[in-house]
Amino acid sequence: MAADNRFVTEKSTVGAWLAHSGGAQVLHEFAEKAGLSQDSLRMLRKIPVNRLLSSQLPDGALEQMVKRANGGEIPAHDAATDTGWQERITPSRFDGKTAVITGAGSGIGRAVACRIAREGGRVVAVDISEEGLKGLQQQHPDAEICPVAADIAAAEGVEAIVSAAEGRVDALGNVAGLSDDFSALHELSDEVLHRVFEVNVFGLMKLTRAVLPLMMEAGSGTVVNVASEAAMRGSSSGVAYTASKSAVLGVTRSMAYMYEPFGIRVNTLAPGGTVTGMRPVVDDESYGPGRIRSFQTDTPVALPEEPAASITFLLSDDSVNVTGALLTADGGQSVY
Ligand SMILES: NC(=O)c1ccc[n+]([C@@H]2O[C@H](COP(=O)([O-])OP(=O)(O)OC[C@H]3O[C@@H](n4cnc5c(N)ncnc54)[C@H](O)[C@@H]3O)[C@@H](O)[C@H]2O)c1
Repeated sequence: MAADNRFVTEKSTVGAWLAHSGGAQVLHEFAEKAGLSQDSLRMLRKIPVNRLLSSQLPDGALEQMVKRANGGEIPAHDAATDTGWQERITPSRFDGKTAVITGAGSGIGRAVACRIAREGGRVVAVDISEEGLKGLQQQHPDAEICPVAADIAAAEGVEAIVSAAEGRVDALGNVAGLSDDFSALHELSDEVLHRVFEVNVFGLMKLTRAVLPLMMEAGSGTVVNVASEAAMRGSSSGVAYTASKSAVLGVTRSMAYMYEPFGIRVNTLAPGGTVTGMRPVVDDESYGPGRIRSFQTDTPVALPEEPAASITFLLSDDSVNVTGALLTADGGQSVY
């Protein structure tokens, strides 16, 4: 059904609000107060307004914004409007399967864990943040989710994760990761270099190394390693993150070759900008971010459920015969 552009609701996207005269006025006023640039609003154009603002505004404030945007009228909740992409689960796709998902406490990892749990899988949900895991469980109290608060870069963390899997891992989603501070090589600290590699590369490899014997014995398994745009270009992050995500690509390719005889498929998913808990910490604008800002604002950022849909596809049997692939889920950014 075509969108009814007479109204905007709290579920309408930022783009729909910007295309609606009342909505644009209210949103611009909000952005000015919040110190949000017009470029940032443009980048967020695919995101429903409630996903962006409900956690930042006091009770009732969003409703007031909707009322003002519509000239004093509050449209029905289901008024036809541009609400953007909607996640649709595939029932039973993971029935009887166990999936280990790292980074499940927030962002993309949480969206993958939620989706697999709703598609019938048992999810071993891993995160260093206990609070994040509690939030995941509260979101789906009836799902089969086994939370494991662990650091994937620590030996005892890896041990706890494998033990929670109880001898069976059909799918491993290596989603946990850290960004860097956008530093160029000459300004890179040992601390950033070591932590980024410890988590993004060594943690991913050590956990996968521990899970592989279970898959080899079963004669099947799927692994998805989450990389980034940074695995393909030099301008999307600092040197530590860029090098770590390029390494993730290498890990995937080697594994896809080495474990093909064991029925194990391994792929890389490279998300583009996504609205999650990950925020780049930028201390110095001289090398990276300042030079690519206009390019970045051209591409809309995604909801975490969007790259999660591609990761879930790669972890499922629907991606049969796909191995060693690099799948981008970036709205086309990598071809610009
Ligand atoms: N958000 C983006 O724009 C974007 C773009 C490209 C790639 N990615 C990649 O997507 C993946 C998910 O990131 P996100 O955006 O959802 O970020 P996020 O910060 O929302 O989630 C990452 C999760 O990983 C967890 N984590 C970090 N270190 C860990 C460790 N040592 N052990 C266990 N858990 C740990 C964090 O606690 C957090 O819950 C990362 O690998 C990231 O590099 C994100």
